[in-house]
Amino acid sequence: MLNTQNTDIAEIEVDFVEEIKRLKKELNAVILAHFYQESEIQDIADYIGDSLQLAQEAQKTKADVIVFAGVHFMAETAKILNPDKLVLLPDLKAGCSLAEGCPAPLLQKFKDKNPDHIVISYINCSADVKAISDIICTSSNAEKIVKQLPVSQKIIFAPDKNLGKYLIKKTGREMKLWQGSCIVHETFSEKKIIKLKTEHPQAKIIAHPECEETVLNYADFIGSTSALLKFVQEDPAKEFIVATEPGILTQMTKKCPDKIFITAPPEASCSCNECPYMKLNTMEKLYLCMRDKTPEITMDEDLRVKALKPILRMLEMS
Ligand code: 13P
Ligand code: SF4
Repeated sequence: MLNTQNTDIAEIEVDFVEEIKRLKKELNAVILAHFYQESEIQDIADYIGDSLQLAQEAQKTKADVIVFAGVHFMAETAKILNPDKLVLLPDLKAGCSLAEGCPAPLLQKFKDKNPDHIVISYINCSADVKAISDIICTSSNAEKIVKQLPVSQKIIFAPDKNLGKYLIKKTGREMKLWQGSCIVHETFSEKKIIKLKTEHPQAKIIAHPECEETVLNYADFIGSTSALLKFVQEDPAKEFIVATEPGILTQMTKKCPDKIFITAPPEASCSCNECPYMKLNTMEKLYLCMRDKTPEITMDEDLRVKALKPILRMLEMS
């Protein structure tokens, strides 16, 4: 039982878990949650996944309402795939530094300077950016998608320079990179990771490809959030140093209760390895958005149709 002041009747005691369950039935809603959400939200979600899995769930859901416990670009993708469904996001300010660092008019200028290039955009971008992209990708399918393109095809990759550099290394393809980055994944300290490794010599270092190259160079395994989760379940190691947002530890510790997970520390003594956008969503906001059917994701139909094309291309190529 918790108190909420953010209601018409202040100080009403609300059991968020029970109320969210009740509203889920009443609205015929599905709750999709990303691995970086707080554990209570992951516990009540119908589906927990990485960006690709959540987009795939959004594409096939029969629910009338999609409640997206994630960030704005993820809920926007669900809306692009489901124009007739109500798509709710508990906090509209739940953005992403990668999406914010790549305004569509500037990407358009970059495109105009390189007219013989196609644009592959990481799903962490706005609908406006998707609308001027040729193919969308996530960290789960980026390598697979790039490898399907003819070697002669010139590529612009936006907006994550770290994922882009990693892809160049993995595929041997030259790509022009948009210079964006994730404020969370670039905080990990190479020095502190090396120190941790000397203290835990048996531990394997695993990292998300949004991390800087200096950190990725030490990784025993690199992958999307779902790939990292799969790796710790299948690998015989008992200890892991995890270089991604610590929300992923909720499922890692659930799936592997006997293994030890150590979060990679940030450079400064802060909790800046937590995504401030993902953490804007709370159980209270989840409950309120379902109760009030707002905030909802809305979009101009012309923009939606343009943004849909590269997303469908991604889903076909995945
Ligand atoms: P995943 O698709 O690997 O879950 O990554 C999403 C994201 O925003 C990582 O910061
Ligand atoms: Fe964006 Fe980074 Fe947060 Fe992922 S962790 S949503 S890339 S700011």
